[in-house]
Amino acid sequence: MSEAKTQENGLAVLAILIEAGEEINQGYGSIFNYLGHIRYAGQKVAIPAFDIKLLLPDNLSQYFRYNGSLTTPPCHQSVLWIIFNERVKISHSQLMKLQTVLYSSKEEEAEPMALQDNYRTTQPLNHRTVLSSFIPVSVKIYTAGEIAAIVIGSLCGCIGLAVIICFIVKTIRLTSSWDVLPSIRPAPQPRLQDMAKESKEDVALKTTTNPTKPEEAAPQPET
Ligand SMILES: *[C@@H]1O[C@H](CO)[C@@H](O)[C@H](O)[C@H]1NC(C)=O
Repeated sequence: MSEAKTQENGLAVLAILIEAGEEINQGYGSIFNYLGHIRYAGQKVAIPAFDIKLLLPDNLSQYFRYNGSLTTPPCHQSVLWIIFNERVKISHSQLMKLQTVLYSSKEEEAEPMALQDNYRTTQPLNHRTVLSSFIPVSVKIYTAGEIAAIVIGSLCGCIGLAVIICFIVKTIRLTSSWDVLPSIRPAPQPRLQDMAKESKEDVALKTTTNPTKPEEAAPQPET
C-alpha cells in the first residue's frame, strides 16, 4: 500500500455513498460495534470475520469511474475511484456513533480532539473523464433547438439581472453618499422655514376662524 499509493493507477477504491435512515445496518454494525475499542489515534482491535459484501450496495453493476486522488495529504493522484450509484443506509444512531465516538488525538493527550468533519472538500474536475457503467437517468440529451432556446433564455435573464443590479447599485450609491458626505446634504433651513410658514398659516387659519367663534358663543339677545 505504501508503495502503491504514490504510483499512477496504484490504488483502486470502492466508494459507497451512505444515507441515514431508520434501520440499523448489521453489515456496518460488524465494524461500528467495535469503535469503542479504538476511540483514540493509534489504537487497534481485532474484529470477528464477516461478509464484506454486506458493506456494498445490492446493485454493483451501476458505478462511476474516474482517475482521482487520495482524500488525505499528500493527496497523491494514484486512485482509480469506483463509486457505486446505489446508496447504502445506516441508522441515525449508527451515524451519530461514527460522528461522536472517535478522537484524532492519542489517549495520553490532555485535550482530546474529536474526529469530526475531516473530509476533503470536492475538488475541480480538471478535464478528467468520468465514466459510467450505465446511462444515468438525470442526463437528458437536448436537441440543437432546445440548446439555442436555453442559451438565449439564459442570456436575456442575465441581461435583465444586470440591469436590475445596476439600478440597485446606483440607488445604494445615491443614498449612501448622503450618509458619507454630510456636506452635500441640502441645507436644513428651507425646510425649517417651510415649517415655520406652515405653522404661521395654521395660526393665521386659527385666527381667522376665531372671530366666528365669539359670534357663535355671543349671548343671543333675549326675545
Ligand atoms: C485512468 O488513466 C489511465 C492512464 O493512466 C487510463 O488508461 C484510464 O483509462 C483512465 N481511467 C479513467 C476512468 O479515466
